[in-house]
Amino acid sequence: MTNDDGAVQGGAADEEQTGPAQEPFDAVDVIRAKRDGGLLDGAQIDWVIDAYTRGVVAEEQMAALAMAIYLNGMDRTEIGRWTQAMISSGERMDFAGLSRPTVDKHSTGGVGDKITLPLAPLVASYGVAVPQLSGRGLGHTGGTLDKLESIRGWRASLTNEQMMNALEHVGAVICQAGSGLAPADRLLYALRDVTGTVESIPLIASSIMSKKIAEGTGALVLDVKVGSGAFMKDLESARELARTMVDLGTDAGVRTVALLTDMSTPLGLTAGNALEVRESVEVMQGKGPQDVVDLTVALAVEMLAAAGRPQDPDDVQHALVGGRALDKWREMIAEQGGDSRAPLPVAREKEHVVADHDGVMSRLDAYAVGVAAWRLGAGRARKEDVVQAGAGVELFAKPGDVVRKGQHLMTLHTDTPDRFDRAVQALEGAWEIAPPGSDVSPGPVVLDRVG
Ligand code: URA
Repeated sequence: MTNDDGAVQGGAADEEQTGPAQEPFDAVDVIRAKRDGGLLDGAQIDWVIDAYTRGVVAEEQMAALAMAIYLNGMDRTEIGRWTQAMISSGERMDFAGLSRPTVDKHSTGGVGDKITLPLAPLVASYGVAVPQLSGRGLGHTGGTLDKLESIRGWRASLTNEQMMNALEHVGAVICQAGSGLAPADRLLYALRDVTGTVESIPLIASSIMSKKIAEGTGALVLDVKVGSGAFMKDLESARELARTMVDLGTDAGVRTVALLTDMSTPLGLTAGNALEVRESVEVMQGKGPQDVVDLTVALAVEMLAAAGRPQDPDDVQHALVGGRALDKWREMIAEQGGDSRAPLPVAREKEHVVADHDGVMSRLDAYAVGVAAWRLGAGRARKEDVVQAGAGVELFAKPGDVVRKGQHLMTLHTDTPDRFDRAVQALEGAWEIAPPGSDVSPGPVVLDRVG
């Protein structure tokens, strides 16, 4: 198309003439400002997130900016604006029409972290709605949806209407977040994953909180993991991450508290999809490991208080192990097409790891166990990989336990035995056995509270 002067309008030639002038900022200027340790202003942040979502800011430019943020950080005003811009990149959900108060829990990710499975039905059994939008595992940490998909018939994907119905009638839903929720985060998270920019407090806090605020929950309890199996390796940085997220939630009108919890050793005795479902059901049958029970109860007490339904911890523990959570679990699984009584998948091959001397286990590294489970097929290296439902690691000893030479310390499960060698390699140096009679007492699972 030409105008009266014969100039070309629209198309590539027009872009060439007007080019970047159509955009209010130049990505390179924004990158340079953060690279040199400056603060980004609100308009720059709004633009860069929006332009990245539209494909105007290129992947390599966003990668450079993410690295500049990783290295130089962001102040609270920048983090707040960045979070808001990611929320505005997509839709917001609204649970105001429900007759029950809503409360959600989010964990920053760990090894053997199956807590959502018993926790959501437990809290829902008190008349509170738990909209648990969850993800899949990537790397050494497991994903809640992968775990639940080991249950025959269970489906992760629900329409908004199905979700609302389930929340109103059952009270608990664990499902996949729709693609319309904070799409900027979906793009940025995938980019950070391959550019070494995940472990940044401003980027983690804005990533998690943009999704939780867009989801529309009334209250939120954060489980911020600390230790080798977590993104935050020490208590001080975990505390800063927790404080940042609690402030973001509170500023957005979401009642938010955080527990800092230990992730130096795996939670419970299993890491792997069906293995963790089995253990979660055992917890609800009163036969599960104490650390899983303790953390589930601690988070449930916080969630119920945040939802305006405070409960006595002993009563909550009784509801967890005494059958009440299990009844709600069965309803929740059935609502999403699952058969909670069907046998869970079991891996075809097993290999045992044994103790080479007597003593007391004094250390068991969460990260190493997570990598071993992942290499056995429980996790995926690329988004498109298919996980093995039965794969993973089953533990028979944890720090503080007495062990005897020749005793099974763990069993490795997989359908593909050529994976055993690399899993065993991941476990090299992963545990220590102190001399017999050593006094090893495992620390508490809940380390601190920020609220
Ligand atoms: N989980 C998220 O959703 N985002 C992060 O950045 C880290 C953990």
